[in-house]
Amino acid sequence: MKSKISSFIMISSSLSIIIFSFYTFLKSYNKMFYIKHPITILFIIIIILLLIILEFINNLIFEKKIESLSEKEKKIILERNEGNYFYLFYKFLFHYNENKKIKKVKKIDHGFDGIIELDNNIPIWWTHLFFLTIIFSMIYLISYLTLDFSNPYKEYKIAYEKQLKEIKIFEKNTPQTSLKKSFFKKNLINDGKILFEENCSTCHQKDGSGNIGPNLTDDYWINIVEKDLYKNIFSIIWNGSKKNPTMRAFGESGEIKGNDIEKISSYVYFINKKKIKPNKQKSPQGKKILIWNIK
Ligand code: HEC
Repeated sequence: MKSKISSFIMISSSLSIIIFSFYTFLKSYNKMFYIKHPITILFIIIIILLLIILEFINNLIFEKKIESLSEKEKKIILERNEGNYFYLFYKFLFHYNENKKIKKVKKIDHGFDGIIELDNNIPIWWTHLFFLTIIFSMIYLISYLTLDFSNPYKEYKIAYEKQLKEIKIFEKNTPQTSLKKSFFKKNLINDGKILFEENCSTCHQKDGSGNIGPNLTDDYWINIVEKDLYKNIFSIIWNGSKKNPTMRAFGESGEIKGNDIEKISSYVYFINKKKIKPNKQKSPQGKKILIWNIK
């Protein structure tokens, strides 16, 4: 018999099974297995060549065998192999039992309800799909049990470690600002607003009008540690209040990084300078300062 399946299908399906098993087995261990890697490409080329050779040999054997048969047998076999690969493949999938078909289809008598059931054969594509799922599950099961593949805890750990590394690199490449270097930046106000709402609004209210902590939108200040309003805000967020530990040292403790404190400070400075003030404000606390920068 000539092979029923075209080499295109044979090659591509065998390759996908090989690549799939390679992928599942090697993925977690070995970064070498990437489709683009030269060794992988070489490997695929070699497999394709081998499959083509195999296909060629099969055809040769078929022709040699036919030569040795009698005319009658030759005719039958050639008739059976008529048509191109696609037609043969189609026949293979849907009419596999052509010879057996001549035999009567098995009948199952239910007996009690008088219905007779025809017990047809399952089409071959179905059977093959079934075997394929078994192969798939075996590869998957072995790699799942013995390797890191698809193990959610290990995947999580790898992803987590990767993220930590990225954060470290990011922090290394973005130097943090400090009280000395920092100044008001208009473009940071929006980012600062988000950070303020996350970190500060519980005590200072979303709009900065004050709650447990003082009103940040008026001109009264309990803490005056710098000569400049912006620096004063930055300094308090960094060092906390020396008078009241409720206002903790966000910067010094490392809770908020310098660049974020710059954003928050820019936002606090902005809402303090803004002409429009919140409707409800906490009553003034501390000393009134209208003009900063007095030496
Ligand atoms: C746990 C409550 C709490 C949180 C959270 C908090 N603060 Fe405060 N904050 C206070 C209190 C209380 C004071 C008053 C300190 C004092 O009396 O010296 C204060 C004072 C301040 C002052 C100085 C006000 C002045 O009149 O001296 C600034 C500026 C300030 N906070 C900004 C912030 C910013 C920005 C954040 C967020 C990063 C923040 N605070 C988070 C409670 C808090």
